[in-house]
Amino acid sequence: MTEEDTLDDAALENDNGADSVVRRDRFSGGPARGFLSSLAADERIFAADLAVDRAHVVMLAECDVIDDETAGDVLHALDAIEVDGHAALPEGEDVHEAIETAVIDEIGADGGKMHTARSRNDEVATCIRYRLREDVIAALEATLALREALADVASEHVETTMPGYTHLQPAQPITVGHWALSYEQAVRRDTERLLGAYARTNVSPLGGAAFAGTTFDIDRERTAHLLGFDGVLENSMDASSSRDFLLETVQALSTLATTLSGLAEDVIIFANRGFVYLSDDYSSTSSIMPQKKNPDTLELVRAVAGDAAAGVQGLTTTLKGLPRAYNRDLQRATPHAWSTVDAVSEASRVAAGAVATADWNAEALAAEAGAGFSTATGVADLLAANGLPFRTAHEIVARAAERAAERTSGEGASHAAEHGADYDAIHAAAADVLEEPLEGYVDPEAVESALDPAQSVASRDSTGGPAPEAVSSQLESAANALESDTEAVQALEDDLDDAHANLRSEVTGYV
Ligand code: ARG
Repeated sequence: MTEEDTLDDAALENDNGADSVVRRDRFSGGPARGFLSSLAADERIFAADLAVDRAHVVMLAECDVIDDETAGDVLHALDAIEVDGHAALPEGEDVHEAIETAVIDEIGADGGKMHTARSRNDEVATCIRYRLREDVIAALEATLALREALADVASEHVETTMPGYTHLQPAQPITVGHWALSYEQAVRRDTERLLGAYARTNVSPLGGAAFAGTTFDIDRERTAHLLGFDGVLENSMDASSSRDFLLETVQALSTLATTLSGLAEDVIIFANRGFVYLSDDYSSTSSIMPQKKNPDTLELVRAVAGDAAAGVQGLTTTLKGLPRAYNRDLQRATPHAWSTVDAVSEASRVAAGAVATADWNAEALAAEAGAGFSTATGVADLLAANGLPFRTAHEIVARAAERAAERTSGEGASHAAEHGADYDAIHAAAADVLEEPLEGYVDPEAVESALDPAQSVASRDSTGGPAPEAVSSQLESAANALESDTEAVQALEDDLDDAHANLRSEVTGYV
C-alpha cells in the first residue's frame, strides 16, 4: 500500500463514519470505490428505498423482531432523511447503505436493527420493482394518449380517401381513418404487453434476504401489502436474484418503440408528399435554409427504437449466464431499464402530440388515392364476382394497364402510372382476352364505379376493411378498449396511492 492510499483511507474515515459503521474498513472500496458505487444512479430509487425501509421496520415491530420504540426512532430518522433528500446522504456504496448509515448517524447503533432479516439483495430488488411500477404507469398512460389521438384522427377521417402502399408503391386506396386505426390497434397490443409486464413486476421479493431466507419470524405478505404489491415472489433465491421483470418490461417498451418508429416513418413520408401538415410545435427548421419545415420530432421518435433496442441488448447481455444467486452485475442491469422507459414514454407522448395536432390535406390525398392504377384489384375483383375466373380477370386488368401505359406514353411513362386505365382500356383488353364482349359479364357503370377510389374503398367492407362502416365498427372497439384500459391503469394508480397512504398512517402510529 502506498503512503497516498493510506492517507486517502484515513481521510475517508475522518470524513464520515460510513465505513466504520455499516461497512468494515477492509471493504471500503479503495481505488475502485467509485466503480463499485451505485449511489448516484440510485437517486432514482431514493424514495422507493425509504418506503421499503418503512414497511420493513413496521413489519419487524409487528412481528416483535424489534421493539416499538426502536421502530419509532428509525421511522423518525427516515422522515428526516427524506426531508434532507438524496443529495444529503452520507457516502456509501449505494443508497441502501447510505440511508442505513444516516439512520445510525441520527439515532445511534440501534439504527442498525433496521437491517434485521433482510439483505441489500432483496432490498434493491424490491426498490426497483417499487419504482418501476410508477414508470410503467407513465408509459401506459402515454400509450393511452396515443391511442386516443389516433382514434380521433380516424373518426374525423372515416371518409377521407388516401393511397395505401405496399413496398412504398401505390397499392390500393384506403382512408386516413383505416390507416390511423391500423396503428391504434398495434399500440393497443403494446398497452396489453406493458400491463402484463406490470403484473409480474408488481410482486414483492422483500424477505428473500440475501437469497436463502432468514431465521427470523417475519411476515413477507405484510411488507408486500404495505408496499402495494399483489403478493410475494415465493422462492427466496428467485426473489433476490431474478430480473426477468426488467427484461420483459424493456422488451415490451422496445416493441412499442418499434410501433412508434413505423408510425413516425409513415407520417414523415406523408408530410413529404404534402398529405399531412405537422403543427409547428412538432416541426423544426433549418439554420441555413429559411424555407424549411422539417419533421425532426418524428425523426427522433423513429430513432428511439434504437435506444430501446440498446436497452434490450444491454440487459440481455448483462443477465445472460449469471449464476444464482446475487451477482454485482445486477447493479449495472438496472439503468438499462430506466433509460429505456424514459426514452420510450417520452417518444410516445411526442408521437401522440404530433398526431393530435397534424392537419390532413384531404384534397391532396384524394387526388393521389387512385394513383398508380390503385383501383386495379377492385376492378379484377368485380370481374371475378361476375363470373370470370379471377386469373382471367387479373389478365384483363393487367393488359388494360399496359394499354393505358402505351396510349399515354407520349405524355411520359409516369402519366400512365399515375392515372391507370379507364373503361375503354378495360373494354379493349377484355376483347383481346375473352372471345365475347365484356358487357355480357358486367355492367359498364359498375366498372366505372370500381375505378373510382372512393367507391373502391366503400366496396371493401369485409371485417376490419377500409369501408366507412367497417372503420366505424373498428372505432367502436377502439373506444371500448380505451375505456377499459384507462380504467385498468387508473386502478393500478389508485392501488399505489392507497398503499402509500396506508403506509404513511402505519408509520404515524410509531413516530
Ligand atoms: N447496489 C446494489 C445493486 O444495485 C445493491 C445490492 C448489493 N448487494 C451486494 N451483495 N453487494 O444491485
